[in-house]
Amino acid sequence: MHAIGIDIGGTKIAGAVVDEAGAIVRHERVPTPAGDATLLEDAVVEMIQNLSADIDAREVAVGVAAAGFIDAAQSTVYYAPNIDWRNEPFRAKLEARVGGTVVVDNDANAAGWAEFRFGAGRLVSDMVMLTIGTGVGGAIVTGDRLFRGGFGAGAELGHLRVVPGGLPCGCGQRGCLEMYGSGRALLRLSNEIADAGGIGLQLARARDANGALDGRIVGAMIESEDPGAIAALRQLGHWLGEAAASLSAVLDPQRFVFGGGVAASGELLLGPIREAYLEHLPARGYHPEPDFVIAELVNDAGVVGAADLARVWVAEHA
Ligand code: BGC
Ligand code: NA
Ligand code: ZN
Repeated sequence: MHAIGIDIGGTKIAGAVVDEAGAIVRHERVPTPAGDATLLEDAVVEMIQNLSADIDAREVAVGVAAAGFIDAAQSTVYYAPNIDWRNEPFRAKLEARVGGTVVVDNDANAAGWAEFRFGAGRLVSDMVMLTIGTGVGGAIVTGDRLFRGGFGAGAELGHLRVVPGGLPCGCGQRGCLEMYGSGRALLRLSNEIADAGGIGLQLARARDANGALDGRIVGAMIESEDPGAIAALRQLGHWLGEAAASLSAVLDPQRFVFGGGVAASGELLLGPIREAYLEHLPARGYHPEPDFVIAELVNDAGVVGAADLARVWVAEHA
C-alpha cells in the first residue's frame, strides 16, 4: 500500500507518495506560509489533494509530521513552541477536508522512524535521533519500537534542561537543550564570536557584508573551516554531546543519529559531540561506546517516516 507523508518545516512543506519500502514515488514542495495557521492548513490540504490525485484518497493513509507536542491519539497538537498552535485539533480539521485517514505525528519522531526503518538506524534495536534545525527534535526507538510516552508527547529531547536558569525557550521553560544545540543557537553563538573579534573576524565581516548572519552563510563558513564558525559549531557539539551522555544513562542506545540542516556539517559536528559525550558519560571507560552518525535520508526522512507511521497506524487500528 502506498501512503502519503507530509512534513511541515519552518521554511517549506514537503510531501510525498511513499511505497512500503520507503521509496518516494512522487514528491512536492512549497514554501511554508508565514504566520497564519489557516494558510498553513490550506497548504497542507492542497498538497494532500495534489498527491492523491491519481489514487483514491479514501484508500490511502496520510501521515502529517509537525513540530510540536502531539497527543497519544495522534490527533491534537497540544503545543508547538515555534508555531501558533495550542490544543490544535489538526487531525479532525484535515480529515474533514480531505476525506480519508490522516494521522498527525511529531516531525522528529517521523524522521527518526524513517532512519530506523530505512536509513542510519536499520541495523540496531535501540536508537536516539536528534534533529538539529530551527529547534532540536528528538526520537527514541527502544526494542525496535518508537517510544511515545503515556500521553503521546514523549521524546521531546530538545526540552531537556541543560542550563539551570538558562536562556528562555519557546516551551515556556529556561535552559533547554534547544537554546544551546539548535540552528538558532548556532547563529547566536556565531554572533557572539563575531562580537568578540579575534577568530570572529571573518564572521563579523560576513555579517557586515550581508546585514546579518544566517544559516546559509554560517554553513558555508563552516564548510570552508573558518575558525570562528568552527568554534561556534564546537560549542553546539559540546552541548549535544553532554545531553547525549545523560540520554545514555536513561536509554542506553547503540547508536545516536543526527539530522536536520546543521547535521550537514558532518564530522565537524560529530567530533565535538563524541568528545563531550565521553567526557560526561556516567561509568565512563566501562560503558560500551555507541556510534555517532549523520542521518542518511537527510531531507526525505520526515515525509518517508510520516507515511510509514500512517501505515503502521492503519495496520494497528484496522
Ligand atoms: C518542538 C518539537 C520538534 C522540534 C523540532 C521543538 O521545538 O518542541 O516538537 O520536534 O522542535 O522541530
Ligand atoms: Na519527538
Ligand atoms: Zn524548551
